[in-house]
Amino acid sequence: MESNQQFCLQKNNSFNVRTICPTIHILNTKDDLAKLPELITDNFYILGEGSNTLFVEERAPLIIKPELKGIDVFESQDKHVVKIGAGENWHNLVETCLTRGIYGLENLALIPGSVGAAPVQNIGAYGVEFADFCTYVLWYDFASNQIKTLTNQDCRFRYRDSIFKNELYNKGIIIEVVMAFPKKWHANLSYAGLDVLAEDSSPIQIMEKVISLRQAKLPDPNILANAGSFFKNPVISMQQFKSLQKTFPDIPHYPQAENQTKLAAGWLIEQAGLKGYRERGVGVHQQQALVLVNYESTKGSDIVDLAALVQQRVFSKFAISITPEVRMVTANGEQDFAQLIKHK
Ligand code: EPU
Repeated sequence: MESNQQFCLQKNNSFNVRTICPTIHILNTKDDLAKLPELITDNFYILGEGSNTLFVEERAPLIIKPELKGIDVFESQDKHVVKIGAGENWHNLVETCLTRGIYGLENLALIPGSVGAAPVQNIGAYGVEFADFCTYVLWYDFASNQIKTLTNQDCRFRYRDSIFKNELYNKGIIIEVVMAFPKKWHANLSYAGLDVLAEDSSPIQIMEKVISLRQAKLPDPNILANAGSFFKNPVISMQQFKSLQKTFPDIPHYPQAENQTKLAAGWLIEQAGLKGYRERGVGVHQQQALVLVNYESTKGSDIVDLAALVQQRVFSKFAISITPEVRMVTANGEQDFAQLIKHK
């Protein structure tokens, strides 16, 4: 295990804000796990590649960063099973699988972040999500000092949600992920943008299309600091949708189970007049209003203030409350957005 004190995390968060943590513990091997329970304090945060985290203060809490590596492939008659260390980069996994003839992750190309973070928020794009291929997650339990196996069902995957954000929050750490890919592969071309591809497109062609779609709309965090979609797409009842549709006939929606429907937060923000809005070195992205960008601020609080404004303008126009997908972290650990802006 490698530990550093008074560590600046500016290069460890894709919003590129400046914050300093008292200590960072970097896990390199499974042997490091046993040392963790005595090192963690009440408030700590598990950091992957920092592509979905906003540090909102100049101080951060104790940080634990798993960097366990390895991609191991096992083959049976009808499927490939892939076991991946939490510290692997997600897009590198997608490319490795595709070049080795293991298909299924092509729609999830170019999503920033680590493999260990993928189950936490059940990453998804272009009609596919992590849960579609996850067999189980290996999770180290701080209380019992044991590695536990959580099946797909145990993980309680939902839209950008899982047990790791809820019941198991900060009670342990994801160390490995196991995914299965049937050899009988089907293209998933249902999502707008991919539906232009021919039915017999190869997985590599699909991956290339996904990459070009993402590059056209989503800013590259290495060039313009951001954390992808800042807000979740809100899910509302069909009844509420019908009444909104009377005032806004063009409102896009995606029907869900249980008489609910999902709205496009990017559309709501654009209609609220905020696409391309800019203030104090931060702004709403010009090509995709769901993405907040940091042009030149070093303070996470500037992004929080912008997010509060966006939330409030959308609410005034549509009476819909959009909530962040990005996780907010103060010196005292993670904090709920509503609590954070209450004191402003
Ligand atoms: N739209 C607008 N204006 C905008 C942005 C979007 O009108 O500024 C409209 C689009 O025209 C479209 C609809 O909103 O009708 C949906 O837009 P898009 O297909 O770009 O997807 P999204 O719902 O904005 C979600 C995910 C993305 C993922 C894409 C593609 C969430 C929070 N975001 O975005 O995930 O890449 O679908 O599958 O679910 C991420 O989580 O960081 C992320 C980038």
